[in-house]
Amino acid sequence: MENIKLSIDKAFDFVSPETINNYEFAVQKANEKLHNGSGKGNDFLGWLQLPSSITQEQIEDIENTAKLLQEKCEVVVVVGIGGSYLGAKAVIEALSNSFDWLQTDRKSPVILYAGQNIGEDYLFELQELLKTKRFGIISISKSGTTTEPALAFRLLKAQLEEQQGKASAKELIVCVTDKEKGALRKLADQEGLKTFVLADNVGGRFSVLTPVGLLPIAVAGYDIKQLIEGAKKMEEITSTETPYKENPAGIYAAVRNELYINRKKIEILANFNPKLHYLSEWWKQLYGESEGKENKGIFPASVDFTTDLHSMGQWIQEGERTIFETVISVKEPNHTKTIPTSEANLDGLNYLAGKRIDHVNKMAELGTMIAHVDGGVPNLKIEVPKLNEYYLGQLLYFFEKACGISGYLLQINPFDQPGVEAYKKNMFALLEKPGFEKETKEIKKRL
Ligand code: PA5
Repeated sequence: MENIKLSIDKAFDFVSPETINNYEFAVQKANEKLHNGSGKGNDFLGWLQLPSSITQEQIEDIENTAKLLQEKCEVVVVVGIGGSYLGAKAVIEALSNSFDWLQTDRKSPVILYAGQNIGEDYLFELQELLKTKRFGIISISKSGTTTEPALAFRLLKAQLEEQQGKASAKELIVCVTDKEKGALRKLADQEGLKTFVLADNVGGRFSVLTPVGLLPIAVAGYDIKQLIEGAKKMEEITSTETPYKENPAGIYAAVRNELYINRKKIEILANFNPKLHYLSEWWKQLYGESEGKENKGIFPASVDFTTDLHSMGQWIQEGERTIFETVISVKEPNHTKTIPTSEANLDGLNYLAGKRIDHVNKMAELGTMIAHVDGGVPNLKIEVPKLNEYYLGQLLYFFEKACGISGYLLQINPFDQPGVEAYKKNMFALLEKPGFEKETKEIKKRL
C-alpha cells in the first residue's frame, strides 16, 4: 500500500535544502514535546493516539448508531460549528458523488448541516425542506454552549418533536458532547438521549477522528474503519521513532516555518479536485485557530483549481510576493473519462481526443506549478494516491501532526483559541445576555 507523499523540491529556489536539514533538532524536539506532554497546551494532546487507541467496541457503537439513523432517516442534520462539523463535512464531500443530493438510489441519508452560521434564511429554508422529510439530528458541541449550534438545535429539535412526537423524536437525536459539563450534556441526560463523549483532552479542531467526525461519516455510508486505519498508518509514520527526513509532518512543518521566516506569510492550500473544497475549509480552521496568535502565524488561505485560476490566478501569479502554495494532488481519480473526437473540431480540441480528462487536469496542475514557481511562489506538493477513506485518514492525521509540530516551532500554544472569545463577548453584550450587564453598558457607549 502506498502512502501520501510530500515533495518540497519546488521550494528550494526560496529556501535551501541545508536550511531545512538544519531543522532536524527543532522538529524532533517539537515532536517529542507533543508525545511526552512537556509543551504548551499539553492538556489537549488526546488526539495524538486516537487512531491507535480507539477500541473495537467504540467503533461498533458508532457504526450501530449510524445504522439506526440510516434506517430511520432520509436526511440527517449535523448541528455544529468549527471543529464540530468541518472534519465530517471535509471527508463526506471528498467521498461523495458530486451530485449526491440528486441520487435516487441512495443507500444512506443525505447529510445536511446547521449551526455553522446564524443565517435566518438558511434556517428558514432548511426547516421548510425538513417539513416533508424523515429526519434525524446529530448535535455536536464540545462546550455545549456555543450560540450558533445551540440556536439551530433548539429550532430543529422542536420541529422534530412536532413532526414525530416527543417519544419518537428521542430515537432520532444523537448528541456528541462533554462527559459531564455544558448545556447539551445536561439536556441529553435529562431527556435520555443517546450520547457520545468528546474527551476533555481533544480540542474541537482535532476531533475528526472521534465520534464528532466518525458518526456523521458513518451515517453518510463511509468506512470509518478504513479512515482510522489510514490515520493509524500516519501515526506510525510521524512517530518520534521516525528519522526527521522520513517524517513528512516534520518536514512540512519545517519548510512552512522557514518560508514564514522568509516573509512568505500566507499559505494557499490548492487542490485540482473540487471534492477537496471542504478539506481546505477544515485545514484553514486547524491551522488558523492553532497558529494565529501572539501577533504571529501563517495566514491559511485556499483555492480550488482550475476554477480559481480564473479568479485568484492573477493575484497568485503577480500579486505581492508573500505567499507560498501547498498543492494537494490526487494521483488517480476514481473514474475514467476520455475525450471524444469531433468531426468538425470547431473547438480545436481534437489534439486531445482519446486522452483522459485527468490528463488535461494533470497538465494544468504541472503548468500552474511551473508558472507559480517562476512567478516567485514556492510550491509544496502532497500527493494522495486516491480519494478514499484510507488516504483521507492519512491526510487528516498528517495535517494534525504537522500542525502540532509547526505550532511548537512557532513557539505558541497550538491548542488554545483565546481570540475566538472577543466577538462572543461583544455579541452577548449587544444581545443583553444576563450576566453581561457591565459589558452591555460599555459597548453601548461605543455605538
Ligand atoms: O477548535 C475548537 O475548539 C473550536 O473552533 C470549536 O470547534 C468551535 O468553536 C465549536 O465549539 P463547540 O464544539 O464547543 O461548540
